[in-house]
Amino acid sequence: MSAAEAILQASTPPEWVECAIARWRELLVDHANCEKKAASTALALMFSYPEDHALALALSRLAREELRHFEQVQKVMLTLGVPFERQQPGRYAAGLRSVMRTAEPGRKLDLLLAGALIEARSAERFELLSARLPPPLGGFYAQLQRSEARHFQLYVNLARAAAPEEWQRRLAALARHEAELISARDEVLRFHSGPPSLTL
Ligand SMILES: [Fe+2]
Ligand SMILES: [Fe+2]
Repeated sequence: MSAAEAILQASTPPEWVECAIARWRELLVDHANCEKKAASTALALMFSYPEDHALALALSRLAREELRHFEQVQKVMLTLGVPFERQQPGRYAAGLRSVMRTAEPGRKLDLLLAGALIEARSAERFELLSARLPPPLGGFYAQLQRSEARHFQLYVNLARAAAPEEWQRRLAALARHEAELISARDEVLRFHSGPPSLTL
């Protein structure tokens, strides 16, 4: 079990993996959006907690790295002839948000833990896909798996620093909800969706 999987309470369903392999083009478009979203989430946290210097420095670096990932995805899309298409967001982010606290001090911890779970799920899925996809995608996803595993650890460290007494209990609660979101059937295929109702 990888470090990322240690905080996840359910493995990605095999049906999602099969569908993602068959529909890798559609997934790549969503992946490009995920990288932009990861950068903007890091920036939003920096704006919310400007007094936290350690957080600002770590997340500034993270945002730059996520934007570099976005540029790499765009390059791969160009190489493989995948056009950009507008997609509706999946239910994952909104589903996670629905159980997160909006009042401080809980808000900060929940945002950091949600970041940890999203990055851990990304690392788990990149690993599953990298073993199955041909070049250049397989190698690209293997490289991203290592980055996302680092990001998951960074968010966990920030969460631990923000709430040393509470973070583990709260992580378990949010991870339970995350596991339900990726296990239940979904309308659409997204990087963080459950297995779509209409497969392949
Ligand atoms: Fe990334
Ligand atoms: Fe990341």
